[in-house]
This record gives sequence, C-alpha cells and structure tokens, in this order.
Amino acid sequence: MLLQRATWPEVKEYLHQSQAVVIPIGSTEQHGPTGLIGTDAICPETIAAGMADAGILVAPTLSIGMAQHHLAFPGSISLRPTTLIAVIRDVVGSLASQGFTHFYFLNGHGGNIATVQAAFAEIWADYSLAARTSGLKLKLANWFTGSRVVALSRELFGDAEGSHATPSEISLTWHAYPDAVRDQPLQPLRAPNGPIRDASDYRSHFPDGRIGSEPGLASRAHGQRLYEAGLADALADFRAFAQA
Ligand code: NI
Repeated sequence: MLLQRATWPEVKEYLHQSQAVVIPIGSTEQHGPTGLIGTDAICPETIAAGMADAGILVAPTLSIGMAQHHLAFPGSISLRPTTLIAVIRDVVGSLASQGFTHFYFLNGHGGNIATVQAAFAEIWADYSLAARTSGLKLKLANWFTGSRVVALSRELFGDAEGSHATPSEISLTWHAYPDAVRDQPLQPLRAPNGPIRDASDYRSHFPDGRIGSEPGLASRAHGQRLYEAGLADALADFRAFAQA
C-alpha cells in the first residue's frame, strides 16, 4: 500500500495489523552523461513499489539528500546534513505519534548513510535525555548492498560496477522507465577512481560525473534481474525487521 494513494481509515486499519513502514530515501544528483539525475531516488522507490504490492505500507520517497559534492553539475540539489537530520526526525516523529514503531529506510545513495545514522542517534537522544522509552525500531537498508543484488552486480559487471553512476543503478532506472534509456558511448570507457571532497574538486577529478564505473554495460534486461533481486532482498530483510 502506497501511503500517498491511501486514505486515513485505510492507514488506521493497517495499523491494527502492522506498525511497520518503509520510507524510500535517495538523492537528486548527476549520474554521469547517461544516468538520470533522479537515479538514487528512483531505485529504492521502484523496489519499494514492489513491497507496496506485497501489502507493506510505503511512505513518500525522500528524494533530496546529501549531494553537495555534485553541485558543480547542473540539476543537482543538496540538503545540508543538519537539514536532512531535521527532516528525518520530523517524518519519524509524525508517524510515531500515530502508533508506528518500525521505520525501515530503503536507501539509494551511499552519501546518505552517515547522515541517516546521525538522525537515528538524534531520535534516540530525544528519548534517552528525557528518560523516556521510545519503543521505536529504526533501520537503514541500502538496496545496493543486499546479498542477492551484490552477487548479481558482481556477476554482471565485476569491477566495472564502480561507485557512482554504476551500471547496476542505471540498469534499474531503465527497467523502471524504459523511455529513459540513453545508449551513447562514453570516453573513457571506465571512469577514474578517487576520494570525494567539495563540488569543484569533484568536477575537476571526475569531469563527466562518474566514479570508477562503466555505465555503458547497463541494460533494461539487467535492470529487470536487479529489480527482482532487490525486491527479494528487501522483502526478506523487512519481514525479519518488522517481527523484531
Ligand atoms: Ni547513485
């Protein structure tokens, strides 16, 4: 069940049988010359839509995240870490006030991980410092680190996966949006690797936006398989979490 297409009596009914909710979280940032700017939000949103079909409540995607290092590329949008922490606290606080206890953040962007964990620490601190019991369970799961997805990415792409604008994530967006396929050749075939700093440093070291990846290997057929692997990973992980 997608929260945005549900009514409040339907959510009330859902709460009688489950207090667990999925919150897809991503980023709005360049993904190289052939990748969609929404890639990191589209990937977890697509997998979460499959979870919604299985009867799990899925909240609206938090589509803007930690992307300061991409800001030298047109179209990228970033929050500050403190802003995202505030957003996560308020989203969790809103649903917790109605009886939700289990919050499963399905993430599509490695750059969000530290900040989401910091938001969880802030939420715990709210309760601990007030000597109150929260009863809350918070989990961050990255769709791209599930065991089935990792095994399949390795089989399909090996070291050409890289770490940004990867053939795996681009394949998954092409599965979700077949009209988005952009098949132009890229030079060099494989992008350079290295550390991430500020936006101008990033643009000078990674001039077309990619890091270590060969998105030319992406395809819709691979995207279909990655979707199935990602959904199986997420369903198994969520169901174990929701019972904890
Ligand atoms: Ni990405």
